[in-house]
Amino acid sequence: MTIVTLQIDGKIVGAREGDTVLHAARSAGVDIPALCHLEGLTDVGSCRLCLVEVGDGKPMTPACVTAVAEGLDVRTDTERLRFHRRTVVELMFAAGNHACAVCVANGDCELQDAAVAVGMDHVGFEYQHKPLTVDVSHELFGVDHNRCILCTRCVRVCDEIEGARTWGVSGRGADARVATDLDQPWGDSPTCTSCGKCVMACPTGALFHRGDTVSGIDHRRDRLASLIAAREHKPWPV
Ligand code: SF4
Ligand code: SF4
Ligand code: FES
Repeated sequence: MTIVTLQIDGKIVGAREGDTVLHAARSAGVDIPALCHLEGLTDVGSCRLCLVEVGDGKPMTPACVTAVAEGLDVRTDTERLRFHRRTVVELMFAAGNHACAVCVANGDCELQDAAVAVGMDHVGFEYQHKPLTVDVSHELFGVDHNRCILCTRCVRVCDEIEGARTWGVSGRGADARVATDLDQPWGDSPTCTSCGKCVMACPTGALFHRGDTVSGIDHRRDRLASLIAAREHKPWPV
């Protein structure tokens, strides 16, 4: 294993070659807000919340898909980064319907946590208010597209950990939505195994257990984390 040495906010940090800047920073106790990243899943770098500045000229790059390199100079907490992170979160709140007080994920929501982390006290963009569907055709789960931030964590966990490949994304731009199989109701899905991993992976209240009440969802990410670790380390005898 090759170890590289880099600087994160002026602190000398060692990391394994091939690690991401996000992983190296978190291992060194430097927190960078992130939403589409979920430990154990392939990173896609889509939400842009984890932007950091690197090297000369300080270009901004998402820490979750930027590899560490010898001598890399990373800054995670500048005024420019704070401005962009707050803007990213505000845009998410403006794009969907995130009325936290009436959401199943109130109190267990990573978008809410991100808003607190970036110091968002208002939304400076016009709300889109485009009412989207809520699909409760599955006997155990529901999807409220109004709460979805299109992070694709459900898509990746269903593919990479469960192997069902039920979720995908249909449409483009403002019309993009997560979809089950060929965009039929979730309850009609011939591939869904009803394992619930997508609900565990969802950072917001977009995926929920039927019967969850306001503030009632328990994402059970600890269970998902142990499933992912078991896949990676294969502790069982073969
Ligand atoms: S319940 Fe399991 S199989 Fe069904 S969509 Fe969610 S992750 Fe995929
Ligand atoms: S349903 Fe949840 S996990 Fe899936 S893309 Fe939307 S916010 Fe992300
Ligand atoms: S967490 Fe890095 S881009 Fe979303």
